[in-house]
Amino acid sequence: MSAEIMSREAETMNWEPRFASRAAGMRTSEIRDLLRVVDQPGVTSFAGGIPDSALFPLADIRNAYQAVLADDASASRALQYSASEGDPALREWIVGYMGRKGVACEPENILITNDAQQGLEFLCKLFLSAKDTALVTAPTYLGALQAFSAYEPVYDDLRLADTNRTALSYRDAAAAAQGAVKFAYVVPDFSNPTGETLSLQARRDLLRLAGELDIPIIEDNPYTDLRYDGEDVPAIQSLDLANCGSINASRVIHCGSFSKVFTPGLRVGWICASSAIINRLILIKQASDLNSSAINQAVAVYLATQLFDEQVKKARESYRLKRDAMLNALAAYMPEGSHWTRPEGGLFVWLTLPEGFDSVSLLQKAIAEYGIAFVPGPAFFADGRLRNTLRLSFSLPDIAGIDAGIRRLAALVRSEQRL
Ligand SMILES: Cc1ncc(COP(=O)(O)O)c(C=O)c1O
Repeated sequence: MSAEIMSREAETMNWEPRFASRAAGMRTSEIRDLLRVVDQPGVTSFAGGIPDSALFPLADIRNAYQAVLADDASASRALQYSASEGDPALREWIVGYMGRKGVACEPENILITNDAQQGLEFLCKLFLSAKDTALVTAPTYLGALQAFSAYEPVYDDLRLADTNRTALSYRDAAAAAQGAVKFAYVVPDFSNPTGETLSLQARRDLLRLAGELDIPIIEDNPYTDLRYDGEDVPAIQSLDLANCGSINASRVIHCGSFSKVFTPGLRVGWICASSAIINRLILIKQASDLNSSAINQAVAVYLATQLFDEQVKKARESYRLKRDAMLNALAAYMPEGSHWTRPEGGLFVWLTLPEGFDSVSLLQKAIAEYGIAFVPGPAFFADGRLRNTLRLSFSLPDIAGIDAGIRRLAALVRSEQRL
């Protein structure tokens, strides 16, 4: 080794003290490190909360790009910078989509984002100062916690059933943490990670609580179209509109996405909200990335207008079979003492093992000895609690793989119970 390289190594910068305080919350976790080794040959993964790529409408996507690039005028629009608020035709389609969900709105109420995740990032940038409180369900979507944590908030558990928490208790707790309650965040339909859907009553209770606290509700709803049985529950934004009369008077901010129905590869989603909020978010969008990809938005218009309903039907049929395979296998193989959710849609089942189980250490054994992977439950809590829980996604393995994988998971749980 040359003397120069040796002295460079000796002088490796210690970057930590140079980072902003918000970077302290951006650490890789024990669980993330573990999940890095999930994708190995021979491992059946129930870990990835991602759509099945076999469902991507490949031929249509190819046709869409070809159509968008076919004539010079359309191609030069698609390959150029574009408006920060998004493609007018796409915003128009989303206005129609939201209208079908009971949310009457106009293009001025829609911002196109790089999918729901960017929507979440923009919203916490808009609302959270350090030490402010974000109300989140426990457990909640891991990616939301990651986006919010960069703004150094305090988390408080949003409880919507069996609770003695009042608006005053949330307000007092936030004041004790030297901030204010700034929003409540929920994934109302087939949530990530539990697969559960908020009841109509819980949605009304949430609206009442948000009214008492005078805060916005962030309704993150990327799974809403993936319903396999049961009745639709109205979007929280539509319930609010029925009360307050207009989107511009609503306290609900809705994040939508094409990721779960078409493909996450497009990175095209949206926020639907009062125009006062959208106007501020446009400024954030300009500073962040100027605009979402014009060509991908044009492709999203093509796909949404040509085959949205057909694609939803195809995805529902396929995932319904997988959901059933997972629930049947859990019922057939899991030993006494465990219980799990029975989702009416989405991609996830939430499994609770008997007290004393530790899903984080169980994962290492599951991968190495049983050829299966899942996400340990603590990943979905701001404070890493409930170590005896885990998230199972049924989207990726085939039916036989789901059955065999759950059989192996049950064998692992049984063998740990014997220890
Ligand atoms: C609840 C929830 N919100 C948002 C996202 C982000 O999805 P996207 O940015 O692809 O829309 C996900 C992805 O898994 C999710 O589960």
